[in-house]
Amino acid sequence: MLTFQQFEIKNLSLKNRVVMPPMCTYSSDDSGYIEDFHYAHYIARALGGVGLIIQEATSVEKRGRISGNDLGLWEDSQIEKSKELVKNVKKYGSKIAIQLAHAGRKCGVKTEDIISCSAIDFGDDYKIAREMTKKDIDEVIKAFKLSTRRALEADYDAIEIHAAHGYLIHQFLSPISNHRTDEYGGCLTNRVRFLKQILLSVREEWPENRPIILRVSASDYVSDGINIYMMKDIINEIKELIDIVHVSSGGLVLAPINIFPGYQVKFAEYLKNETGLPTIAVGLITNIDQVEEILGNERADLVALGRELLRNPNWILNNAISHNVKIEYPSQYIRAYK
Ligand SMILES: Cc1cc2nc3c(=O)[nH]c(=O)nc-3n(C[C@H](O)[C@H](O)[C@H](O)COP(=O)(O)O)c2cc1C
Repeated sequence: MLTFQQFEIKNLSLKNRVVMPPMCTYSSDDSGYIEDFHYAHYIARALGGVGLIIQEATSVEKRGRISGNDLGLWEDSQIEKSKELVKNVKKYGSKIAIQLAHAGRKCGVKTEDIISCSAIDFGDDYKIAREMTKKDIDEVIKAFKLSTRRALEADYDAIEIHAAHGYLIHQFLSPISNHRTDEYGGCLTNRVRFLKQILLSVREEWPENRPIILRVSASDYVSDGINIYMMKDIINEIKELIDIVHVSSGGLVLAPINIFPGYQVKFAEYLKNETGLPTIAVGLITNIDQVEEILGNERADLVALGRELLRNPNWILNNAISHNVKIEYPSQYIRAYK
């Protein structure tokens, strides 16, 4: 079955096509450190046979957190526990990426300096953001670079840059949230500049043979916002700097979304065809028939199962046995799969 086929990109070799997408667990504290919960949570999915685990949004700056319980990689003291997590996830057979993130105006930590490209709030529960100066922009770009250096020290297999769901990079990309009049606002090339500079600085630290994934929201679901055609143009501006596109949608403004099984797959398919880059499809994908259809019709290269893997960490193992596919089971569990 296609689900269980290997996937190779650069030096990264995945044993199957199933990805655990980043999902915040809000289980750290003000330190941003990885806690016991995170080891249990991620190692369980490694034992369950997931090809690629993408660690939840991990902030590059304290003021970039979504909550006071986010993970962080904004200082060197956070490397050690990341290293331990990476070592163990790999030991149990998965590959692991880290999602590097900055919340911008969606920072929910009331004591932090809330920044964005423009002085607009996300909604009534959020403070009006302070418009970033050129110095702020340089600081955030440097924070992504330094976090990348730390991620390399911890030995993650890939980096995912979070440019989706209405967080800081998405705020720069969308004409709805970016009202700047300098070289970071206005035309598409200007709105992409911040992302491009982040990717360039990340690339300076991240070895050429390890992949960089870009997570995007392919639609803001409102007129004047990002739509799939604009997202294609955005990606084509920076496609030499990334290796895989992880295609989600929404999150910039509160807009109604018509949700159904596989509702974002069409975006992954379009971006795969129009940019030539491999894509990860995600969104209400729960059963193996959906995964086979997406891979078989070449609509995406990898498929992420989020909430389904929260419900069922052994999704891969259980599907392999029920479809008579030979895979390597963890030695401790072999008697359950005979
Ligand atoms: C509890 C939870 C936390 C999430 N946190 C993140 C996150 O840290 N970064 C991110 O890019 N997406 C995040 N997402 C979105 C998921 O990665 C995924 O795109 C979404 O759940 C849709 O996939 P699903 O229908 O398979 O769950 C989160 C989703 C959930 C349910």
